[in-house]
Amino acid sequence: MALINEHFLKLKGTYFFDDIAKKINAFKISHPKIKLIDLATGDVSQPLCPAVIEAMHKAVDEMGRKDTFKGYGPGQGYKFLREAIVKHDYQLHGVNIDISEVFVNDGAKSDTGNIQELIRWDNSIGVTDPVYPVYIESNAMIGRAGKHDNGMWTNVVYIPCTADNEYLPQLPSQPVDVIYLCNPNNPMGTVMTREVLKKWVNFAIKNDVLIFYDAAYAAYIQDDDVPHSIYEIKGARHVAIEFRSYSKTAGFTGLRCGYTIVPKALTAVTFDSGERISLNALWHRRQSAKFNGVSYVTQRAAEATYSEEGLRQVKETVRYYMDTANIMRDMFIKSGWNVVGGQNAPYLWLKVPDSDDSSHFFMQLLYNLGVACMPGSGFGPSGEGYFRLTSLAQREDCIEGVRRILSNYANG
Ligand code: MLT
Repeated sequence: MALINEHFLKLKGTYFFDDIAKKINAFKISHPKIKLIDLATGDVSQPLCPAVIEAMHKAVDEMGRKDTFKGYGPGQGYKFLREAIVKHDYQLHGVNIDISEVFVNDGAKSDTGNIQELIRWDNSIGVTDPVYPVYIESNAMIGRAGKHDNGMWTNVVYIPCTADNEYLPQLPSQPVDVIYLCNPNNPMGTVMTREVLKKWVNFAIKNDVLIFYDAAYAAYIQDDDVPHSIYEIKGARHVAIEFRSYSKTAGFTGLRCGYTIVPKALTAVTFDSGERISLNALWHRRQSAKFNGVSYVTQRAAEATYSEEGLRQVKETVRYYMDTANIMRDMFIKSGWNVVGGQNAPYLWLKVPDSDDSSHFFMQLLYNLGVACMPGSGFGPSGEGYFRLTSLAQREDCIEGVRRILSNYANG
């Protein structure tokens, strides 16, 4: 008789994003004549850039010829891609990363979820709240998060980001072993500057805390004082693992590619002897047993984002989304709304008008205006009373969505 992992039973029956997608779908089916404006999930709307398409065609042709066909690739990723990553995403920002520290994957979601396998089940984890749900749920699945009670996980330290602290996480007063940081932040679209991140890194060094740093939205950073990588901060390679993705950077949400940096200098201790063990070696061991790498064609596609043409084209697309975010921000601000985010990230974080709760507001927007948003409560207790809009949709849809909201809720 197989016994199940009962920690799964503590999770909500449906993952938050799936639940929202299901509700949106039900609306579409029951209202076929209404043009739905979907600003909920942060999926990209612009096609892959020509440099990427060209590289993929070439790679597909190679796969069709006996002399250039590729079978299993290196599990950690092809050298050509890891070298391009090291050069463009790190060296050019003054950071030295060795290619043995780069692990290519199928997108940040997998590794931000899987990485918790490296730590003992009874580590305490801290998350900034609101939070990308993957961080908590992946811990909940092995029992580390405790029980879900009153909208909160009993063993998770929530670090609230609200209007009272200008949506910036404060250092926790309770002890934590591991902290998840997301910068630029999903869902709020906010950023931590170099100064702020320095405090977190110093805190982690002082208290022997491990940071899981999600930088999936780094390509959207516009401000000079916001670091693209946590390793721009001195000492971070001793305390942090970083996750990056081509999903939002280059429109790979459907193609799937990202990477994780696990520095060689990063260690954690054994319970019994306190011996420090390399997390790079452990992650390498984990990946070799569980992961066979990303397809050759996809890795060639990712490599193409770093060619001269690729860099220019990818930047243009990011510009398109950020210009859309600016237009959306302006529309709200001109109508007297307070807007968080949208300046260094493709998300706008807004207060639900009339002190409505965010789930109810989500349904109101959907059924009264034909606009889909993400209700803040799905991202954690501090998300209640807020909603998120993406600027990654087609610009005309984003504008129409905001127009419909403003026509009904003139000044927030
Ligand atoms: C989002 O909408 O927050 C993202 O698309 C979710 C994800 O990247 O998994």
